[in-house]
Amino acid sequence: MTPTNDQPAPRTFTAAPPLSGEVAVPGDKSISHRSLMLSALAVGESRVEGLLEGEDVLATAAAMRAMGADIERDADGVWHIHGVGVGGLLQPQTALDMGNSGTSTRLLMGLLASHDLTATFVGDASLSKRPMARVTEPLSRMGASFMTSPGDRLPLTMRGACPAVPLDYRLPVASAQVKSAVLLAGLNTPGITRVVEPIATRDHSERMLKGFGADLTVDIEGDGTRIISLVGEAELRPQQIIVPSDPSSAAFPMVAALIVPGSRVTIANVGLNATRAGLIDLLREMGGSIDVVNAREVGGEPVGDLIVTASSLKSVEPDPARAPSMIDEYPVAFIAAAMAEGRSLFRGLEELRVKESDRIATMAEGLRAIGVAVEELEDGVVIEGSGGAPLAGGGPIATKLDHRIAMSFAVAGLVSKNGVTIDDMRPVATSFPTFLPLLQSLGAME
Ligand code: S3P
Repeated sequence: MTPTNDQPAPRTFTAAPPLSGEVAVPGDKSISHRSLMLSALAVGESRVEGLLEGEDVLATAAAMRAMGADIERDADGVWHIHGVGVGGLLQPQTALDMGNSGTSTRLLMGLLASHDLTATFVGDASLSKRPMARVTEPLSRMGASFMTSPGDRLPLTMRGACPAVPLDYRLPVASAQVKSAVLLAGLNTPGITRVVEPIATRDHSERMLKGFGADLTVDIEGDGTRIISLVGEAELRPQQIIVPSDPSSAAFPMVAALIVPGSRVTIANVGLNATRAGLIDLLREMGGSIDVVNAREVGGEPVGDLIVTASSLKSVEPDPARAPSMIDEYPVAFIAAAMAEGRSLFRGLEELRVKESDRIATMAEGLRAIGVAVEELEDGVVIEGSGGAPLAGGGPIATKLDHRIAMSFAVAGLVSKNGVTIDDMRPVATSFPTFLPLLQSLGAME
């Protein structure tokens, strides 16, 4: 599973004994990206503890360095960032390599849209298939210009506008990446940039922008619509950030502990921001035993320790309105549904088709390959649960450069009769480099 290895790393996961122990998953990916970007725009030194050192976040760090920020990691794993000031990013001398990371790409496109520079973005085969029109459209209205590959995809070259024009933008898709791109562009834009968000998405950008001293307000209307207003030409003050553990990574040991009979696992220090905690609610509705202890606030984000005990699960038909609060957790939620009693119906998930892979198609194909009865819908899936009986198993599962597909089917392997083979575990390094040692420490594998 070495990131530099250019050979696929297949692996088979087999039926596990009861999982037990206390584990910590790595830092939150969304918060890690934002902490590097905003620190790089503050004047003075910011310190970040608990940064996710996965490939996606390292791509953001490399890009910020290429545009003038000084970013170092010390021997204790604390990151020190000396920023260049809002508006102070420098012209990158080579193309910015975003690897597999949609968040790096879309947020940085926003940041650069109000800088007087030209930048080229490139990425891997998965990222080069993902739609960028959702950000090029609003950013063009702010004055930036884009030369994209066909279908508004990477590789693309953009030219920022300085001064950019403030925008009043109603999000046409529930996407924190699009919201954040517009807000980051607004940082170096005179006047007020406003984003209207009919369905709440993760709010880490808003929290962190305020924490760095930006003048940002959020008004919530009667129907829940959020109006986020940012005063431009902001000055950001350096911060000390402690990154909580990523709930999207905690999702894998969480589901594993629920479905492997006899398990009891504690997952420490997990981010519990309500805009991210949808999976916990869903699993509890399915009958999962998940207790939150030591609930506290760290660095402006709610966190807690989760105690997860194996449970008999029942099927669900979740309201599509909750999708943004667990958008990255559906693949592993489908594994939980495959082990539940009854038929689960998931709808309203068209956004899953434009993630690191088409997660509706990739999951349906993989579930079928391991003996689960599944029907693929345009915007979701129907899954017939086993009622707690082991899944047949099989594979190899085609992960299609998608870390969450690899980890979801690894979890399925732990409750399989014949094992589940994953074609390539390397993508896991984008978000969860310690996934295999963590499973080992829970006794899930040798
Ligand atoms: C992210 C937002 C989500 C999520 C992604 C991270 C972010 O994407 O899927 O993994 O950090 O803003 P969308 O906002 O496009 O749904």
